[in-house]
Amino acid sequence: MTPQATFTAPKFEVKSHASLRSAATKIAVEHLNFFYGKTQALKDISIEIPERQVMAFIGPSGCGKTTFLRTLNRMNDVIPGTRVEGKITIDSDDIYAAGADVVDLRRKVGMVFQKSNPFPKSIFDNVAYGLKINRVTSSRSELEGRVEEALKDAALWNEVKDRLKSSALGLSGGQQQRLCIARALAIRPEVILMDEPASALDPIATSKIEELIVDLKKQYTIVIVTHNMQQAARVSDLTAFFLLGKLIEVNSTEKMFTAPNEKLTEDYITGRFG
Ligand SMILES: Nc1ncnc2c1ncn2[C@@H]1O[C@H](COP(=O)(O)OP(=O)(O)O)[C@@H](O)[C@H]1O
Ligand SMILES: [Mg+2]
Repeated sequence: MTPQATFTAPKFEVKSHASLRSAATKIAVEHLNFFYGKTQALKDISIEIPERQVMAFIGPSGCGKTTFLRTLNRMNDVIPGTRVEGKITIDSDDIYAAGADVVDLRRKVGMVFQKSNPFPKSIFDNVAYGLKINRVTSSRSELEGRVEEALKDAALWNEVKDRLKSSALGLSGGQQQRLCIARALAIRPEVILMDEPASALDPIATSKIEELIVDLKKQYTIVIVTHNMQQAARVSDLTAFFLLGKLIEVNSTEKMFTAPNEKLTEDYITGRFG
């Protein structure tokens, strides 16, 4: 790590660098290339994602944010004709190594999508879903305990505790998205990937999700894609800026939005393109 002496910079840098220094690396990406057929969507990406912090991915539409997020739990594997080069380790395990356990990986690295996607089932069954298919719990009371815990962690319990048997489709958009977060949390992942989780929500529902993200980082490593730079500035500790499949800059969020290192970053955050 860089010695302390280099951190005598402006005040706004101190907090983020202090927390960065204290955080262990959860995910390390080295020279990652990704191809859809002959089209290269990610170009030589290397980045370290620290444990129990929030990292935001920003950049114009089509620059590879979603593709990159999905390489982190091998969600792209199901798309025919795709190819990955390079290395990704989580807790030092090479997730693309021959013989790597993809089911285990996806249990460890949960995902929340842009459009909330509750199943047409009860609120309870939505959260219990992953626990049931993975046969995680051994009794009804244990299952109920885990569902309650996940709903509490997703800041939804108080709103739904009296109607757990009602259809999830009767919830508001913001509640449905928190339900999907509860569903992801129920299997106790270590990393949560969120792809524009609030982009379809109104401002109040959005701020609830943002508060939740800040709260969740106490326990989880969070990577969030957002096209909303205010949101990145509000919720994340670190921000990574992508352009045309390349990682242009990764920096503390404060530095990124006040004094970025790269001219391209500055042009983007000041709205000169994108
Ligand atoms: N399933 C796919 N097949 C082929 N090309 C794709 C597919 N998904 C995304 N792409 C292409 O990869 C590039 C990056 O897309 P994406 O990761 O979705 O960007 P972002 O999330 O930043 O908007 C784009 O050029 C997009 O058209
Ligand atoms: Mg996307």
